[in-house]
Amino acid sequence: MFPLQRDRRLRTNESIRSLVRETSLSPQDFMLPMFVAEGKDVKIPIASMPGIYRHSLNHTVAEVKEAWDLGIRAVNLYVKVSENLKDNTGKEAWNKDGLMQQTIKAIKDAVPEMIVMPDVALDPYSIYGHDGIIEKGYVVNDATVDALTRMSLSHAEAGADFVAPSDMMDGRVLAIRKALEQNGHHNVGIMSYSAKYASAFYGPFREALDSAPVDAQEIPKDKKTYQMDYANRIEAIKEALHDVEEGADIVMVKPGIAYLDIVREVKNAVNVPVSVYHVSGEYAMIKAAAERGWLDHDKIMIEQLYCIKRAGASIISTYFAKEAAALLNK
Ligand code: PBG
Repeated sequence: MFPLQRDRRLRTNESIRSLVRETSLSPQDFMLPMFVAEGKDVKIPIASMPGIYRHSLNHTVAEVKEAWDLGIRAVNLYVKVSENLKDNTGKEAWNKDGLMQQTIKAIKDAVPEMIVMPDVALDPYSIYGHDGIIEKGYVVNDATVDALTRMSLSHAEAGADFVAPSDMMDGRVLAIRKALEQNGHHNVGIMSYSAKYASAFYGPFREALDSAPVDAQEIPKDKKTYQMDYANRIEAIKEALHDVEEGADIVMVKPGIAYLDIVREVKNAVNVPVSVYHVSGEYAMIKAAAERGWLDHDKIMIEQLYCIKRAGASIISTYFAKEAAALLNK
């Protein structure tokens, strides 16, 4: 008999393909990252991220409603505050009337069921554009963790469902979990950016928030003393296991497409949901190639999102969330 196996039999038509498909993709798999701006009625386009804006509160709330109607059930929030609110302590980060805290409240008032996950890191509040406090040219760990803990508590008090530390300091998940428990926020979850690599794919995001490390003497030019080396794999498992032990409810791998081996390894190593951040540079690459007519935008978008899920992601944070949801809902 030849051939021994006809593997193509299961690919004969779309009906059989849909019956044997191993991975599914739906709007509930997505989280929408959103950039929030100060001021009234502000809508600032991000040049390297076509279709993405920095929105003031009114537009942010409108977009959250739109996302909800498309089937999206979580948003990740990032704020841009004015320079005069920045310093080396990040104290604006836990101002109970700060931009993030106001945003959390406004979203929870307007769409109470939307899961709101504010970003926890000092970079939007740091005059140096770093995720922590700088002493003698180094981002110090434990003092930064104290700041992140205060920040997380203020997010919980504003009504956040989850806090999402993206800073990569050691011990922050444990410190945040303890503080949440001690203050009665038992059901506020932690999604930890566990395996976050020092990546050039974050370029457009730093443009969106104007948050790149500043070029000054004694200030580290990159984030390599806290974010991971992209040459490393085993270290990602170590980071994820530490975060689960410290109380993370969800662990994240970031960026996405170039790191799917890490997603699979982390998925196999932990017993909590794994999320993946399909980051700004990945979005920009697809938009740029599609603008030139070099790639089919919608097909590439859906393919990449499927591949991230196939690799082991339960949740995908992606700037494509609304577009992909609209397409999947058709
Ligand atoms: C900073 C932060 C970054 C991103 C999310 N949180 C940038 C950085 O680490 O410099 C990047 C996300 C993206 O590129 O879409 N805490």
